[in-house]
Amino acid sequence: MSVVVKYLVCKADDGDEEAEADRDPGVAPGRPRLSPADGPAPARTIGRVTIYLDHAATTPLRPEALEAMLPLLTEDFGNPSSPHAYGRRARMALDEAHEVVAACLSAQPREIVFTSGGTEASNLAIKGAAWAGRAEGHRIVTSAVEHDATLHAVGHLAKFGFEVVELPVDRYGRVDPDELAAAIDERTILVTIQMANNEVGTVQPLAELIAGVRRVAGRRVLFHVDAVQAAPYLAIDTQALDADLISLGAHKFEGPKGSGVLWIRHGTALMAQTHGGGQERYRRAGTENVAGAVGLATALRLTCEERADTVKRLRRLRDRLRDAVSAVPGVEPTGHPRQRLPGHLSVIVRDADGPGIVVALDLEGIAASAGAACTTGSPEASHVLAAMGYPDEEARGALRFSLGRTTTEEEITRAVEVIPPILGRLRVGSVALAADPLGQEVGV
Ligand SMILES: Cc1ncc(COP(=O)(O)O)c(C=O)c1O
Repeated sequence: MSVVVKYLVCKADDGDEEAEADRDPGVAPGRPRLSPADGPAPARTIGRVTIYLDHAATTPLRPEALEAMLPLLTEDFGNPSSPHAYGRRARMALDEAHEVVAACLSAQPREIVFTSGGTEASNLAIKGAAWAGRAEGHRIVTSAVEHDATLHAVGHLAKFGFEVVELPVDRYGRVDPDELAAAIDERTILVTIQMANNEVGTVQPLAELIAGVRRVAGRRVLFHVDAVQAAPYLAIDTQALDADLISLGAHKFEGPKGSGVLWIRHGTALMAQTHGGGQERYRRAGTENVAGAVGLATALRLTCEERADTVKRLRRLRDRLRDAVSAVPGVEPTGHPRQRLPGHLSVIVRDADGPGIVVALDLEGIAASAGAACTTGSPEASHVLAAMGYPDEEARGALRFSLGRTTTEEEITRAVEVIPPILGRLRVGSVALAADPLGQEVGV
């Protein structure tokens, strides 16, 4: 590995003079520009990144969402709870955002609660349902491949006496409907399972999972769905899907960060997790992020309208990239080969280090990820790949390329030229290093 690191360090330090000349001496590179004293931002603020293949981490804010948000951040700044004209304008915008989101989900506006993102939506769903159902039972069933927003929320509840059952998954990351049904007993109050996985892109057989729970449970066991990754690509119809709670996060579908939604089926008992004012029908206290809600609603509406075309195009582009990447010896796709998100490609590069590859790709202008964005930098191997049966030394080579609506044909053409040689080179470098750890005979 030292060979590779040396190469990377040299490349980073070898003085790109043009970039050096562009650099504003008063502003550290990479630091966000917060004050007018910082002056105008330079044309290039994110190094050499030109092809963004990390849409599962986040997406750019789409211009239509920004345009819809701007009035709420400027002249229409009122508090929706105020009775005067400013407040009424904000209230109208917020009410409309509830309506737009509800229409996209085939839901009712009163079933929509705006939150600060997917994490808060899932926390409200899980903790709110658990505490509201405490008198009926204390068992919560989830899967081993959930996002930390779910796993840490149920882990927190376990400290208060809730019993948490974490179901295993198969090699592709799917939960078996029969195993889920078998885990339901008379003490079970909540099931929480994602619609699609952020690290490996696998889509769960949700309709069968929910049907199995409904078949065996003697009463309604609440079913929460984390649809944060799925929302940009899979239709979410609350009439057709027999769930009770669904979480979404705006920044995965080109809405603003810090804005999310929890859909709560009408009549579902949920205990609020923030206390204060009566906002969002007493389910989420605090002055509403009106601009965030409007940005989310605008982005979600457009996502729903364009979804069919986006999915078709992304699947084709992703398959091109997958074919090129998996042709490299030692590279193997992970996750389900067909039941997966359309723009999502996850692989394991054998005998290689995922984070090291991400740095090398970044230097060549490709932004990708070594797994979940939120665990980048963590020395721990992915809990998702571990649950799918990959040993640590294989999971170390995990990489994720996630395309989005704004990914172009030209970008993928360039990506298929640039990525495979880098994977091949770094893989060969690590194999050579393993054979000769002191580097005495490695002439790289
Ligand atoms: C599957 C999944 N659930 C939840 C979250 C958390 O969402 P947010 O970033 O909006 O808090 C993420 C974010 O990556 C995710 O991928």
